[in-house]
Amino acid sequence: MRTQVAIIGAGPAGLLLSHLLRLQGIDSMIVEARSRDYCENRIRAGVLEQGTVDTLNEAGLGARMQREGLVHHGIELLFGRELHRIDMTALTGGRSITVYSQHEVVRDLIAAALEHDQTLYFDAEDVSLHGLPSDAPHVTFKHRGVEMRIDCDYVAGCDGFHGISRASIPADVLRTYERVYPFAWLGILADAAPSKDELVYAHHERGFALFSMRSPSVTRLYLQCHPDEDLALWSDERIWAELRTRFENTSGWLPNEGHITQKSVTPMRSFVTEPMQYGRLFLAGDAAHIVPPTGAKGMNLAVADVRVLSQALAARYRDARTDLLDAYSRTCLERIWRSEHFSYFMTNMLHPSYDDTPFGNRMKLAELKYVTSSHAAAQSLAENYVGLPFAA
Ligand code: FAD
Ligand code: DHB
Repeated sequence: MRTQVAIIGAGPAGLLLSHLLRLQGIDSMIVEARSRDYCENRIRAGVLEQGTVDTLNEAGLGARMQREGLVHHGIELLFGRELHRIDMTALTGGRSITVYSQHEVVRDLIAAALEHDQTLYFDAEDVSLHGLPSDAPHVTFKHRGVEMRIDCDYVAGCDGFHGISRASIPADVLRTYERVYPFAWLGILADAAPSKDELVYAHHERGFALFSMRSPSVTRLYLQCHPDEDLALWSDERIWAELRTRFENTSGWLPNEGHITQKSVTPMRSFVTEPMQYGRLFLAGDAAHIVPPTGAKGMNLAVADVRVLSQALAARYRDARTDLLDAYSRTCLERIWRSEHFSYFMTNMLHPSYDDTPFGNRMKLAELKYVTSSHAAAQSLAENYVGLPFAA
């Protein structure tokens, strides 16, 4: 088989890239290791930046998101038992975020791919990349017991942090930057109507907690925990008791409680690969970088990367220009490092660390007081949270 761009991974990055390429008349094939059912039901991100929403709308993918997504104009920071609202829309000249699950985005993207007869192999085994430094790379894998080969001009590595794309680049070509945090998030989904219209990020002596939502009847909640936390030790009652403690506040607001339908532990890591290219292979999304989830940036960065990559590939095929492809890494890394810093800042400010000194904890409170009392500091947080505009 032959295509112009072979895409590894059917997460938000790979699926959106294939769609944006199709709109430019560029042919691609997607190879995904997991089943369609797995991809469509993996519970992950929920917060879409304004630019992500605009990208999906402009690409004709926004119909259901516009009906079902929840537009938010602010967030609350809770510390010292008080809620403090950050009015993002007022602070950013009218920008907002939308709460719409990543797996709903993935479902919309898979539906669009199938509608347009996009070649998409689920359940691919032994995916491997060949000839990357040459101008004739190819991808091999096994599908339903049959050995497959895709010859292509370019490979897009959109296969997440644990994929094979980054691992296919010789180690001496890459520089990596990493910080592993000494805590994780225990996340739950509960059948309970959200008791507030906006997200609440809580800093408490016992650890961070986050109130979020998925729909008018589903609440999403997270609790800071140890990276090796044993979920078996967290009964539903223990989770609700800990959430009540961490969210306690003078206004009396608390999340509604309900049947817990999902529990998981997410480790926290900052990670960047430089460059994001090796020969004909371009990395995008979590394959190239990871942020701790506190800033809600991961999926948004994946979308930003594939916007840049689709434009660079369009310039290559339409005008025989390779300067945008050559600049791909540099262009993406500007936004990536900004988001890395914001995610690191939010994470450090909101999580009491198990190895913090009393002085370190006071620094976090001083920072929280500053971002909720200074217009300049609140504006800085807001413009990063809603997402900086894309370069023209
Ligand atoms: P992925 O979604 O990881 O997709 C990669 C795909 O490649 C997967 O389908 C995988 O099965 C496939 N694959 C892997 N290996 C292979 C292989 N060898 N061959 C073929 N296919 C392969 N981000 C936000 O923007 N906002 C948030 O609010 C937010 N909250 C989060 C909360 C949690 C609990 C977690 C875990 C993450 C959160 N994120 C958030 C981050 C976000 O989910 C990721 O950044 C996003 O999934 C990245 O998309 P991707 O397409 O790059 O990678
Ligand atoms: C959600 C996840 C985040 O990482 C975040 O910062 C806000 C909300 C969520 O899953 O809803």
